[in-house]
Amino acid sequence: MIHIIENKISADEYNYLNNSVGWGFREISIVEEALKNTLYSVSVYDDNKIIGFGRIIGDKTIFLYIQDIMVIPEYQHQHIGTKIMNKLIEQINEYKNINPSIRTYLGASKGMEPFYEKFGFISRPNNDLGAGMILY
Ligand SMILES: CC(C)(COP(=O)(O)OP(=O)(O)OC[C@H]1O[C@@H](n2cnc3c(N)ncnc32)[C@H](O)[C@@H]1OP(=O)(O)O)[C@@H](O)C(=O)NCCC(=O)NCCS
Repeated sequence: MIHIIENKISADEYNYLNNSVGWGFREISIVEEALKNTLYSVSVYDDNKIIGFGRIIGDKTIFLYIQDIMVIPEYQHQHIGTKIMNKLIEQINEYKNINPSIRTYLGASKGMEPFYEKFGFISRPNNDLGAGMILY
């Protein structure tokens, strides 16, 4: 049965999901630190098997960032990504009780913009905003 658990994922599960979507493995200690510093996360399981994940990082009141939305290939296109996003948006709405102007960013993978547009995200650059930028 497919079910969601909040704020609980192991570094091994995270690496398993990352690798399944083609992003590879990271050192366990690095993943553990990243997960420890995560504000909120959603893990999706089919019985005991992890099949999807998403998380929010940020300062809770002014800026948030959605990261690591992933569903293993065998379960994609079954609206599991949508379930994950809906839970994250619910949590963002909680933060909005503290500051209604809180801003949430994300970096879409190439071609994935339509998935995020369904939840109200807009692409940059536009008339008001410059391009999103990244430092590697
Ligand atoms: C992106 C991802 C999380 C979507 O999860 P999913 O469970 O397959 O998505 P859903 O079934 O909830 O899709 C909802 C809608 O998003 C859009 N969508 C989903 N996957 C898409 C894709 N690969 N490209 C473009 N639009 C997509 C579709 O409009 C879809 O609606 P539809 O089913 O009515 O056509 C999943 O494909 C994934 O893990 N991909 C690999 C990792 C990745 O790229 N993550 C995003 C990083 S920015």
